[in-house]
Amino acid sequence: MTQAYSASGDTLAQAFESLDEISEAMTRRGGALYGGEAVTQLAHALQCATLAEDCGSSPALITAALLHDLGHMAGEADDEKSAHSDLAARLLGRLFGIDVTEPVRLHVDAKRYLCAVEPGYADTLSAASRQSLVWQGGAYSAQQATAFAARRHAHDAVCLRRWDDAAKTPGRATRSLEHFMIIAQQVQLANAPAGRAADGAAGAGDAERPDIEIRLATDADLAHLVRLMVEMDDLKADAQDADAAQKMRVTLQTMARYPDFKTWLVLEGGRPVASYSLMIFCSPSHNGTQQALLDAVVVQRDRRSAGLGNRMLRHAMRQATAAGCYKLMLSSNIKRADAHRFYENLGFTRHGISFGIDLPPATAASVLQ
Ligand SMILES: [Fe+2]
Repeated sequence: MTQAYSASGDTLAQAFESLDEISEAMTRRGGALYGGEAVTQLAHALQCATLAEDCGSSPALITAALLHDLGHMAGEADDEKSAHSDLAARLLGRLFGIDVTEPVRLHVDAKRYLCAVEPGYADTLSAASRQSLVWQGGAYSAQQATAFAARRHAHDAVCLRRWDDAAKTPGRATRSLEHFMIIAQQVQLANAPAGRAADGAAGAGDAERPDIEIRLATDADLAHLVRLMVEMDDLKADAQDADAAQKMRVTLQTMARYPDFKTWLVLEGGRPVASYSLMIFCSPSHNGTQQALLDAVVVQRDRRSAGLGNRMLRHAMRQATAAGCYKLMLSSNIKRADAHRFYENLGFTRHGISFGIDLPPATAASVLQ
């Protein structure tokens, strides 16, 4: 181990140089209670990592979830008043890249951010977490929240924060420390030594396929979206409307008027090859808790079975998680057994039965009635 330092330069603990050292620290000190909660440090870590894995997160983010509170289990600063997130990131800095260390470093900031931007979030925190929020500086100002959201790993940190908040249930079933240390080992091997490079262009979890980018679709992508929608419906290319691009432009403009309805594009080597749309909304059910609806999921025909769909759906799950959704739904044609297996492998379960009815085209008069 080598010395790790606090932001002020004080020596706090030794930076880990092997996963065995981390396992040993978690086993030795993980039996202590997690702050003022009713679970141990180790149970909390395993619950957090299990929630991350169940959400289809990247191995790096699962590892960050497992190790986010390592600052409490190593060194002297074992209390919520200390900058334990910063310490944990430093402790992990010799073994992991920024896709692990930054969500860890930012998970306290993510709580301050959510308190600022999400009405009611602070009320969901445990008493201990509300107390530590005071020590951590309280809710962000609007300006601080904007600055946080612009950080590259803010989204992953918010996801981690959601799991952190939920991982405090006594007796909850989890996967084992050994299971997660195997994942951590894969991350460590994949990231060394390049993973320790300075902040680059690839997104969180992109160590798996650095040539893949997932970004919001824009008007510059209209032709690609039209082409992908034709493939989604297994139509021939000449089946599309002559004015399909214009219709797609209007569609994106209409979606932009919803509070949170976005179309995402997956690029492989800079070429658009897949897309999905995600609406985040609430209704009077479940006390108005946010939920997410996935639609228009498509992977270019000749790029199917290449892991792109998996990558895209995990991205969607993280979007929904970061928005505080309690579930993510989609409908699929009952004949598409391959698609059903794909969703089930990602952790989706069959739920209820979908009904639909074709309606006559709306007229101005009928819409107003
Ligand atoms: Fe935690």
